[in-house]
Amino acid sequence: MLIKSEASKVRVLVTGGAGYIGSHTCVELLNAGFEIVVVDNLSNSKIEAIRRVERITGRQVPFFLADIGDQAEMRRILESFPVDIVVHFAGLKAVGESCEKPLLYYQNNVTGTLILCEEMDRAEVRKMVFSSSATVYGDPHTVPITEDFPLQATNPYGRTKLFIEEILKDLVAADRLKQADEPWTVTLLRYFNPVGAHQSGTIGEDPNGVPNNLMPYITQVAVGKLAKLRIFGGDYPTRDGTGVRDYIHVVDLARAHVKAVEAQLDQEPGQVFTYNLGTGTGYSVLEVVRAFEAQCGITIPCEIVGRRPGDVAECYADPSLARQELGWQAEKGIGDMVRDAWRWQSRNPEGYPD
Ligand code: NAD
Ligand code: WQD
Repeated sequence: MLIKSEASKVRVLVTGGAGYIGSHTCVELLNAGFEIVVVDNLSNSKIEAIRRVERITGRQVPFFLADIGDQAEMRRILESFPVDIVVHFAGLKAVGESCEKPLLYYQNNVTGTLILCEEMDRAEVRKMVFSSSATVYGDPHTVPITEDFPLQATNPYGRTKLFIEEILKDLVAADRLKQADEPWTVTLLRYFNPVGAHQSGTIGEDPNGVPNNLMPYITQVAVGKLAKLRIFGGDYPTRDGTGVRDYIHVVDLARAHVKAVEAQLDQEPGQVFTYNLGTGTGYSVLEVVRAFEAQCGITIPCEIVGRRPGDVAECYADPSLARQELGWQAEKGIGDMVRDAWRWQSRNPEGYPD
């Protein structure tokens, strides 16, 4: 385990660090004593998130407004700011949009990652922690899901995650074949359903337009921006007929990244590590709504409508491998998730200012 004084000598490049999960991870990396540098093209985020990370931590954050697919720029950044490891969040993440614009998703997520990896390789930085997703399990045959379940993508977004996982595994395999001196090491983190916000209420999820995801939709109904929640499907084979998911507090998720970075720096290089990041507990849509109403004292008008195409009935993690190998487990419960999501939304009804 790295101690704080050692962490201060390690510099982490955070791609997509201005985004929802990236900004929370910047806070936790800085709190753990790491140096960081952020690269983000702000295609789905605002620079204000970085300013607020600086305010929360009292630390300055070197920031580059750049696209990971801009090879010359990535080279310049890695030359001027040598780093030890990359935590790679940058990517587009809207499932529906990926079905309409698959080329955009393959270009941004897959080609962007290829270019990032080429420049990391050139700079001899061969350590990456990658934001994967439970979406790589597709429609699981049973729950809870362990890391060795069959992988399957059900939309172009999910396929970008699957392809990137395979590309990163190939880098490690190639270096093993060559018996490279400084081989690639990769940690694939498969997130379940990240929700909530930092306890300060100053950073959180700031979706563009009408949210696709459940929690920001609920908080926008609560704040009066949307009239009612449409619950997609009341006839699933679940305890109350609504879909069940493994919601995980974004601060717990961010802390898992710190553990993953620390573990990778302590491990023998040349390996692939894969972890589910969830709580291991599934909540139905109705249970999340009831928890929100109970904790925040606001009624959420709801209507049960037809199922959303592509949704599965139940999806939750077996997170025991992350507990055993990273010494990480989620500490926050559904009450913290809904309270913190609401604190962020109610204090920032319009999200971050431009
Ligand atoms: P987000 O959109 O808030 O953050 C992604 C960040 O990456 C944004 O700041 C965006 O501006 C930046 N970005 C996108 N493309 C870029 C590029 N080409 N170059 C530079 N910057 C770029 O999303 P998030 O929820 O914080 O997700 C972070 C990562 O985690 C993504 O890779 C996402 O696919 C993955 N993930 C998210 C969820 C979720 O539900 N939020 C679940 C599983 C996995
Ligand atoms: C949760 C539950 C919906 C909105 C998505 C991506 C996945 C991952 C996380 C990145 C489901 C129901 C939702 C609404 C509803 N992202 N719901 N009314 O679909 O589990 O996962 O985000 O990797 O790839 O697919 O999350 O928050 O959209 O839905 O009833 O307005 O809430 O049907 O049961 P999902 P979600």
